Amino acid sequence: MPATKDKSNSPIGRETKRIDGPLKVTGNAIYTSDHNFPGMLYAVPVGSTIANGSIAKLDTKDAEKMPGVKGVFHRANIGKLFRVAPNSDYNAFSDEDRPPFEDDVVRYYGQYVAVAVADTFEQATAAAEAVKVTYNEKKPNVDTYLTADSKVKVDSERGDAQKAFDAASIKLDETYVTPAETHNVIELHSSVAVYDGTTFTLYETTQGVMNHRNVLCQVLGVEPEHVKVISKFLGSGFGSKITPWPQSALAAALARKLGKPIKIVLSRKMAFHAAGHRPRTQQRVRISADAGGKLTSIQHDYLNHTSILDDYKENCGECTKYFYSCPNVRITTALSRRNIGTPTSMRGPGAVPGLFATESALDELAIKLKMDPIQLRLINEPEKDEDLNIPFASRNLVDCYKTGAEKFGWAKRDPKIGSMKRDGLTLGWGMAGAGWIAERFSAEATVELRNDGTAKVSTGTQDIGTGTYTVLAQVLADKVGLSLEKCEVVLGDSSLPPGPLSGGSMVTASLIPAVAKAAQKAIGTLLSAAVKTPGAKYFGVDQKEMDYTEGMVHKKDESASAGIPFQQVLDSGNFKFILGKGSSESTFAGKPESSKHSYGAHFVEVTWQEEIARLRVSRVVTVIDAGKIINPKAGRNQIEGAVVMGIGMALFEHTNYEPTKGAPLNSNLADYILAVNADVPDLEVHFLEFENKDLNEYGARGIGEIGLAGLAAAIANAVHHATGIRIRELPIKIEDLLV
Ligand code: MOS
Repeated sequence: MPATKDKSNSPIGRETKRIDGPLKVTGNAIYTSDHNFPGMLYAVPVGSTIANGSIAKLDTKDAEKMPGVKGVFHRANIGKLFRVAPNSDYNAFSDEDRPPFEDDVVRYYGQYVAVAVADTFEQATAAAEAVKVTYNEKKPNVDTYLTADSKVKVDSERGDAQKAFDAASIKLDETYVTPAETHNVIELHSSVAVYDGTTFTLYETTQGVMNHRNVLCQVLGVEPEHVKVISKFLGSGFGSKITPWPQSALAAALARKLGKPIKIVLSRKMAFHAAGHRPRTQQRVRISADAGGKLTSIQHDYLNHTSILDDYKENCGECTKYFYSCPNVRITTALSRRNIGTPTSMRGPGAVPGLFATESALDELAIKLKMDPIQLRLINEPEKDEDLNIPFASRNLVDCYKTGAEKFGWAKRDPKIGSMKRDGLTLGWGMAGAGWIAERFSAEATVELRNDGTAKVSTGTQDIGTGTYTVLAQVLADKVGLSLEKCEVVLGDSSLPPGPLSGGSMVTASLIPAVAKAAQKAIGTLLSAAVKTPGAKYFGVDQKEMDYTEGMVHKKDESASAGIPFQQVLDSGNFKFILGKGSSESTFAGKPESSKHSYGAHFVEVTWQEEIARLRVSRVVTVIDAGKIINPKAGRNQIEGAVVMGIGMALFEHTNYEPTKGAPLNSNLADYILAVNADVPDLEVHFLEFENKDLNEYGARGIGEIGLAGLAAAIANAVHHATGIRIRELPIKIEDLLV
């Protein structure tokens, strides 16, 4: 009897605790700033106290004489640092392209102008404070009203949106604003650099060990093989660790200069200056419909602020292109330069602020039409991606709306403003849709089968806290048929086979095919070893007759239990391990055949207590259409975390820049308000798990970002339902509701 595989044993889709959980909760997981080396020195950057101007004089004399100080470094003495070449074959990208200290111009508050190095962190901090900098100061531009400083570009266009808009009787023309937000990752940005005279070993907190290496080798002016980036555990990134920030180059340059290991840990405050943020956006949405609710035009003209030197674009039109059926669409974009550090991706870049605008606008349009907002969405559900004119790979947004409505009890909604009450509170019910890309980066992995009966997968990606170690252990366990405990996952090292960036919610989908191929190769080699080892049980058998089932090597015509454990094959051949390599291609190259996205819907209840102006989010039901969920425990965790972040985005988060000095005013966790447990009700998350295998054999897509998309609009829509006040600028403030 040919062996049959019992798929009920498969760990795929099973609630699985994080395999790295025990290490983390016992304090044994080594994070970047936990790395210490003999002779290591501490470096503390000196941040500029102006946001626009230049350095007139840098007086380091007093600082240099302080106890333990090894030096103060700046443009004249740190050594050469280079830029990252655009579109290079190194596949390297950075958001802040200017290496630290490149010139004496100051373009944002907190820009590094010098760095103090000492035996201890306290000594280096004191020395950094003692550096006297004289500036030629100019008034900074940190204005919140955005106007185009770059050419207005068309992101996407079909039909004649202006003409259709002009002809329509039901329309709206409103501007939606989302503020600058700072990621506020719990693990501070830090870099520990070691230089041995030839090679840099950089311990980094990065969402991309490969990208970090590819950027830093160019900045340092050395070959890629002379830079090794290590990042074993992260306290999240939310996008702020996708590209390297200047402290990494400073640590490496100082290690080279001084011949000693260097540690830099940014303060919470510094992370508001020079470690990225989500830029402010200002989005004009013009939208029109016929009397039946069919959309006749969408115009989405958005601006985002960026820094003086870098062209960071917040791609707000991302979902607008394909979300609704509409014959006339025009999306334009432009940048508005500010004396602010370079922005970067933050969870769901583009889609998240973009959907706040468009999903709010849809709600406003539904009200004008006196139509239920779900009904309006159903009327405008597209049959294909009308932007690219290709079919959707898998789109179950309507099911998200229907399931969400049912779980939430939407049918009981009375659309009349302020009409729904409970326990003396006014209820507001709002909803919105969510979308996010579903793609793959190229990825490579190796799988080893080892003579102790265990297996190992290695790849140069990293687990930023999302559960990548666990998901890859599940995939490996499934592919080699071993229990999870026997599967080791090695990540976070740029010398491993190149793995994907932890960005765009693509790690899981990207790696499944690579790991599957690597496992298949390893098993093939194992079977070959089984038939080629003289004296071994299957010596001389035709390899085609051999099979591998759940750790057992056996003939196809016998049961798995009649075979031998795979480690016995390794033992007979005297092999320590047998290795297979696998790779998978990026889905970005070439013209896509299908439009690949994940979808979702949020249903939100707020309570409004008018007499004391108290607004609370009291219920959130989220339905996600993201294909197969490999680990529902970690998956739900991703969506819940995103919803918490979305409550913060809707109600609290806002980086304020002081208008005369250009400094972020609320650069600490007391004044930058994040949603905490007290702000978060019970969250309900449902995964639909429609099967679509375009990206990989399990049909898994990404889930890191989609949970945040659309949520702020659902909250704003609920607030309108409760109060009658339409908030088009986030965060929603109590004072906005006191009218
Ligand atoms: Mo995500 S903003 O691509 O880390």
